Amino acid sequence: MTAVIRIGALISGSGTNLKAIIDACTDGRITGELVFVGSDNPAATGFKWAKALEIPTFIVDYGDIIRRYREEATSLTLPAAGDIEAIISRQRIFSPQSSREKLNAFFTTRLVAEDRLLSRMSAYPFDLLVLAGFMRNLTPYFIDSINTDPMHPRIMNIHPALLPAFPGVDGYGDTFRYGCKVGGCTVHFVDYGEDSGPIIAQKAFEIRPDDTLAMIRRRGLALEWELYPRCIQLFAANRLRIEKATHTLPGKRPYTRTIVRIISSARSVGADRATDLI
Ligand code: GAR
Repeated sequence: MTAVIRIGALISGSGTNLKAIIDACTDGRITGELVFVGSDNPAATGFKWAKALEIPTFIVDYGDIIRRYREEATSLTLPAAGDIEAIISRQRIFSPQSSREKLNAFFTTRLVAEDRLLSRMSAYPFDLLVLAGFMRNLTPYFIDSINTDPMHPRIMNIHPALLPAFPGVDGYGDTFRYGCKVGGCTVHFVDYGEDSGPIIAQKAFEIRPDDTLAMIRRRGLALEWELYPRCIQLFAANRLRIEKATHTLPGKRPYTRTIVRIISSARSVGADRATDLI
């Protein structure tokens, strides 16, 4: 029997993915329950879905922290556990050539914000943290606080593009403007890069010549609402395995990557493609 997992969610905006997850928990497609919904944005309208079901909510106002840093950097106290140099050396969001000023501003404000997030989240033990339209990059400080076992990552994200194409804040827009003939969405575990973690599953849709960006967003979001709950249920059913896959590239160069294998359930024995399994 599949255990009921405790799910924490972080949102930044309208929270339609959060709604899809709550609905799937309610009707049994996910054997889980939402234990909190947090946000970086006081104006996130998605809170309404949580409040309707009395799921605890909280806000850590990233914008306010960033404003305070700009006005007077010294007014922010770094968390004791957050060694900024060690964190900058592990992050993969910025290139090593990035200016010191930029790195300091980003990591100081994020460490302060993440420390507050972790403190609010500590009131609600959880098995899985889902990013449901959470528009902030997470640092190794936050990620390592949650992922204590590298073989069992516990932070999932949904991204509006077929990764690794078009990471960042506007996946559907970037797909559309590039002139792609297919678009899609990706669910992945979060690592130290920007939308770069091991992929759990993807769904694609065709882009036709007369499609507008609004049509693409609508089509993509409808797929997201199906795909995310399915991936969360694979986690709940303990069907996701982290593996290291090594390949030999031309010139005998080894290429190793962490990947996710979806293992068969009793019902889907014989299936061997991710699309059969979800
Ligand atoms: C969704 O399209 C989600 O994939 C995207 O934000 C939207 C949130 O919508 N996330 C990202 O771009 C993360 N990089 P929602 O708030 O209605 O769920």
